[in-house]
Amino acid sequence: MQHHLKSIMGIDRDSQFSTRVIILSLPSALLFLTLTLLNFLTPLTSLICYIIIIIFNMFSLFPISYEMQALRKYVYSLTSEQNTINDIQLSEKDTQELANAINSIHRFWVSKNDTLEAQTVSDAAVLDTLPDPILMLDGEGNITGSNLAARNFLGEDIVSKRIDNVFSTNIFISTVDKILKGKSTSERLVFHAPEHNNLQIYAHINKLPWFSKGRAVAVVSLYDISKSLSVEKMHSDFVANASHELRTPLSVISGFIETLQTTAKDDSDAREAFLSIMREQTDYMSTLIEDLLSLSRLEMAQNKELKDKVDLTEVVDDVVQALKIKAFNRSLNIKMVEQNRIPKIIGDNQQIHQILQNIVDNAVKYATENTEIVIEMKTVPEIPAGAGLNVSAGKAVSIAVNNKGPKIDKENLARLTEKFYRMQIHKDMKIKGTGLGLSIAKQIILHHHGNLTVNSTSYNGTTFTIYLPIKQK
Ligand SMILES: Nc1ncnc2c1ncn2[C@@H]1O[C@H](COP(=O)(O)OP(=O)(O)OP(=O)(O)O)[C@@H](O)[C@H]1O
Ligand SMILES: [Mg+2]
Repeated sequence: MQHHLKSIMGIDRDSQFSTRVIILSLPSALLFLTLTLLNFLTPLTSLICYIIIIIFNMFSLFPISYEMQALRKYVYSLTSEQNTINDIQLSEKDTQELANAINSIHRFWVSKNDTLEAQTVSDAAVLDTLPDPILMLDGEGNITGSNLAARNFLGEDIVSKRIDNVFSTNIFISTVDKILKGKSTSERLVFHAPEHNNLQIYAHINKLPWFSKGRAVAVVSLYDISKSLSVEKMHSDFVANASHELRTPLSVISGFIETLQTTAKDDSDAREAFLSIMREQTDYMSTLIEDLLSLSRLEMAQNKELKDKVDLTEVVDDVVQALKIKAFNRSLNIKMVEQNRIPKIIGDNQQIHQILQNIVDNAVKYATENTEIVIEMKTVPEIPAGAGLNVSAGKAVSIAVNNKGPKIDKENLARLTEKFYRMQIHKDMKIKGTGLGLSIAKQIILHHHGNLTVNSTSYNGTTFTIYLPIKQK
């Protein structure tokens, strides 16, 4: 096509020009021949007159032929890819008018094309802002369009693939088929996508109305509901765990009440022993309720402004003082090391107190007796990043709390900050706890845009390191 255009645009002379002049002069030739044969003119006069007519025809035909050639070249130039519209100046009125008419048709189509292109670009931009994947399908089930979310989810080369090459789940493919065959106009379903991390997807498939032009006949919207289902599951697990944790001490208490009312009615020794157990159980219940409340308060206050100037050295001192007796009872020595002067940080004083209280309390509870707990504070240039964390950039303070004890294996390490999670060995050792202390600490650290890491080796024991930014973002 390009070559063809070039070859035509290269022609400046009309190759048919001589033929046209000869054809135009043919009637004159016949006339002069007849006049010569009838002896009205001599052959020489006829020839001279004929040559004059040919020259005359040549001159009168030349401008028209030239203009036609110019017009032809101009029309081809309009179809060229640059699409620039230059006006053409022709001397003949008719050809100029023709050129003007062609020009205005061309201008009309160029502007229509620009509007269409702009419309298509803005439609695509709007679709790209939608957070969920959207696919357009033609009558055969080929994907003819997609938005950015769909390309991020299913790959850049998604367009032109068939929908059954992208998803294999029968129920989904047959529902799409139902829409494409016109048996239904709108369908919704939930399905598993084994080829896409086994995500659970809610799909909404709609047939486009008959008057919508274009290749697409159906639109598929996809929503990943795996996350919301797992949040729902976490909530129901939480409720189940909380009820279970409360039911256990309650059943112990009610059992003792029953015994005190019946068999042990007049047994004062038993009464004393039972009452002290009941006291323990109610204490546990109130701690649990207190922890649950503080966890829910923290979750609600995620957007609370952090504005206290917190002196971490002071907070650690207070916490250590409060735990001194507990540590003494287990023959533990608590040592504080400050590698440099620790600057005050911006945060919530009470919440930071709670993080340290929970983590140093754990060290005291779970350390091997007769060992040393070391709390080391220093400033660090950056908080280490962590999956799903939104840590503050820039300088931070790290507080590492180390206690000696058996190494915690990987599986347990990964689950320590889960609500109600407690390691079996500690349950077996009958060490008291609700399993909420670390979840609370983690929640506060998240709120402060910091990080919490845990390290455990058989030689060095377990180290929890809290990172808190000096300035909040
Ligand atoms: N320093 C530590 N050394 C060894 N194990 C630990 C340590 N800190 C926590 N753990 C383990 O992690 C579990 C969860 O700790 P967390 O502080 O959340 O709950 P808890 O101490 O059992 O109860 P709570 O703190 O609510 O009274 C603990 O039960 C224990 O098994
Ligand atoms: Mg604890």
